[in-house]
Amino acid sequence: MSFDLYDLTCDYLESPIGIDSKNPLFAWKMVCEKSNTIQTAWKIQVSSDGVTVWDSGKVDDCQSFGIIYAGTPLESGKCYIWHLQVWNNHGDFAVAEGCFEMALLYPSDWVVKWVEPTQLPAYNEPSMDFHKIMKDGFVELDKIKMQPAQMIRYTFSLPMKEINRARAYATAHGIYQLDINGDKIGDLELTPGNTEYPVYLQYQVYDITKNIISGKNALCMTVGDGWYCGKVGLVGRSCQYGDRIAGIFQLEVEFVDGTKQIFGSDDTCKSTDGPIRYADLFVGQKYDATIECRACSKPDFDDADWNSVFVKDYGYDNLRAEFGEPVKVCEEFKPKAVYKSPRGEWIVDTGQIMAGRVRMRIKGEKGNVVTLEHTETVDKEGNYLYNMFGRFINQTDTYILSGKGDEVYEPRFTFHGFRYIRVTGYPGIPTKDDFDVQVIQSDLVKTGEFSCSDERLNQLQRNIFWSQRSNMISIPTDCPQREKAGWTGDVQVFARTACFNMDMRAFFTRWLRNVRLAQKDDGQIPIVVPYWKAYHPGGVLHGNTHTSSGWGDVATVLPWALYTAYGDKQFLLENYEMMKRWVEYIRYTARTELPENSGNLTDERRERMKYLWNTNFHFGDWLAPSVTVDPETGDVSPIYSAFSTMDIVPSCFFAYSTQLLATAAQELGHYKDVEEYESLLKNIKHAFADEYVDEQGHLPKELQGLYVLALKFSLIPKEKIPGAVSKLVALIEENENRLDTGFMSIPFLLDVLQDNGRIDVAYNLLFQDKCPSWLYAVKMGATSIWEAWQAILEDGTPTIVSYNHYAFGCVGEWMYRTIGGLKAMKPGYKHFVISPNPAEQLTWAEIKYDSVHGSIGSMWKKSEDDICIEVNVPVNTTATIFVPGKNNRILFNGKEINYDYNKGIMVGSGAYTLIGKI
Ligand code: BGC
Repeated sequence: MSFDLYDLTCDYLESPIGIDSKNPLFAWKMVCEKSNTIQTAWKIQVSSDGVTVWDSGKVDDCQSFGIIYAGTPLESGKCYIWHLQVWNNHGDFAVAEGCFEMALLYPSDWVVKWVEPTQLPAYNEPSMDFHKIMKDGFVELDKIKMQPAQMIRYTFSLPMKEINRARAYATAHGIYQLDINGDKIGDLELTPGNTEYPVYLQYQVYDITKNIISGKNALCMTVGDGWYCGKVGLVGRSCQYGDRIAGIFQLEVEFVDGTKQIFGSDDTCKSTDGPIRYADLFVGQKYDATIECRACSKPDFDDADWNSVFVKDYGYDNLRAEFGEPVKVCEEFKPKAVYKSPRGEWIVDTGQIMAGRVRMRIKGEKGNVVTLEHTETVDKEGNYLYNMFGRFINQTDTYILSGKGDEVYEPRFTFHGFRYIRVTGYPGIPTKDDFDVQVIQSDLVKTGEFSCSDERLNQLQRNIFWSQRSNMISIPTDCPQREKAGWTGDVQVFARTACFNMDMRAFFTRWLRNVRLAQKDDGQIPIVVPYWKAYHPGGVLHGNTHTSSGWGDVATVLPWALYTAYGDKQFLLENYEMMKRWVEYIRYTARTELPENSGNLTDERRERMKYLWNTNFHFGDWLAPSVTVDPETGDVSPIYSAFSTMDIVPSCFFAYSTQLLATAAQELGHYKDVEEYESLLKNIKHAFADEYVDEQGHLPKELQGLYVLALKFSLIPKEKIPGAVSKLVALIEENENRLDTGFMSIPFLLDVLQDNGRIDVAYNLLFQDKCPSWLYAVKMGATSIWEAWQAILEDGTPTIVSYNHYAFGCVGEWMYRTIGGLKAMKPGYKHFVISPNPAEQLTWAEIKYDSVHGSIGSMWKKSEDDICIEVNVPVNTTATIFVPGKNNRILFNGKEINYDYNKGIMVGSGAYTLIGKI
């Protein structure tokens, strides 16, 4: 068959069994043996039990994703089949079928009760001064204050009838795991995930058809503290949402005879604590295997001495089915080495900085205690060195042996950011075989691949990928060890690279739901989402606002990045109101507030100030190297990079967000808004130019990052651009071709140079390996992206920072786009350009990108007298290919063609080889 459909998805998943969107989204991809293939029409018929609930009719359109269900209302718990027909421009026709199952669509579908075990409340850790924590370094935990995980046991009996289908719907206050009749249900981790719990708590849907039987059954739900009542973030505050663990589960069993039973958590449940003496996402987990519990989810287990539970009225309004890919163990591998350090301690070296845990095999005497302490670094000699500062960030798992022969331990209620583990108390000599390293992440599909002739760049891309997967655990986080927090700025910076590497559609859709829910009434977007109390004013933030420029701007940047990468207007539609309210917040702040010490302003300047965002605290160009040092003490102090750039950076983002909003308004046809925000943008640009740009195009501060931002966001008047560019280049050269940009400006550094005719300087920076530079870390053996450029000093001394922050990895996208040459010209790569920039330093490069239309490939190779490019263009797209360099002849699939260097060559789907002969 020459024309085929594949990757049929509903709400971004293949055959999902628990979606609760009332209008789910359909998508598919196509392959065709013939070139130049375009979809001309599609038709979807959705049915359940033979009854058609939607027939779209034949729709003459080339769209193959983001198709919104528009039939009669879908029903809770029902299975649907969607039958797809697609026609193409060659007259071919293809059919395929997908299915999906609805979860519980309405709060009234819940007939069971929330239950709370008999328990001591979690200790409410008070807030602690952030600066004291920074000073004190690592703050040890008082383990006596930790409470055990709770087990909720429920027994039920089913009639002697054949079971057709059974589902469990479950969630918890805390992190939970379900066992039925002695078996763990599903392979999900860290359920229910991390969301804005009071308004958005996910429940999971499990197929339990094979786990239950006629007659007696038992279920056990184990619940640990998790994000709900555990300790979070740098300051280790506990009880973000409450101080008591709770659970809810509803089982629905359909019998072959057509009858159905619905039941689950209620006052018949019993509870007790068990072997998990405590479980915390930051502190770690302690498991006492001498406390027998394995049989408690078996029907004949005697629970006579268990406690009763309390039925609670927490309601069902905030419950939503899990959306997108769940968290799982996505890879397992053996450690690279287990060695005895010079200090005589056992160290497991996994060989890779990552997020997850280890499974340990062990045999020894009852009561033996083994601890596993996780860190990202060892010192120069190979001794254990803990690289975190902060409070209660122990990352230590403890196991007390049962003494019953071979034992296996796998901490299920926590995860760590680490490469090394110090193992203490292990009976005998630990070997690699005793450990399996488990990588935990949201189960996202990898979509990007990059390779080239310089192995250092390949390692850099691998490092970026590892930092991405380590920080995509339910929400996008800053780092998987110290904070595990949804820092909005980090995502803002990294989103475009993330979308190249992995299919981020569902993941970011879910997180943006949280962002919308966390947005303040006045439009502020919090610095972290979910917005934990630990990060409210008075904690990490200076001042009283909830936001910072560059962080809150995720509200405009992320929807736009998603739309560009994936082409679905839904990303803009869903978020447009939030984008607008964010820009309005900035506009209001700029209009109504004046910076302290602004003195007597002339009328002209007073007017100008209305378009400059220059009040309150901001993180500025966070971690720009040259200003990350306290000028008074000489100490490295990240906060100083904020103080020294926060006067100018916010106005840059005011312009950027306003521009993105105006462009989004244009796409959505909100033409009044287009006018409104374009005129606002004009005013911001004028105000910026008048206040900060001098005659030569220079800014008041000689910092690379400020020039990058001002140039990127078109804040320098046209005639002054050459002056600004020369200054930027001069700053780079004075810095010996090393970058000096922070979180906010780094995504644009290489682009700004390239766009202004200085790709030579961009490549100098990329291939630089002296600190600060991307390849410095590679040279020093990095396996991930570091938070700070100088995390490991030249002499090999490791410093106390995170070694797993993806923000500086945003260069990944530039490498795909510039070295690979792939650039979307229409959203979702409907039309794209392949225009590689073969750096002098490289002889070949290859990228693959699995777009929403299918796989795009670009490979180039140069020799002394020619350059060869191979391109793959998926069905339903077109591409313009540019052959780099000034070639005398161009061969296209073996035949010489007339070729215009300015226009390139436009092609439809297919595989192409172009050779440029010099
Ligand atoms: C986090 C960052 C975050 C920053 C705010 C840090 O502690 O780890 O990645 O964006 O604070 O500046």
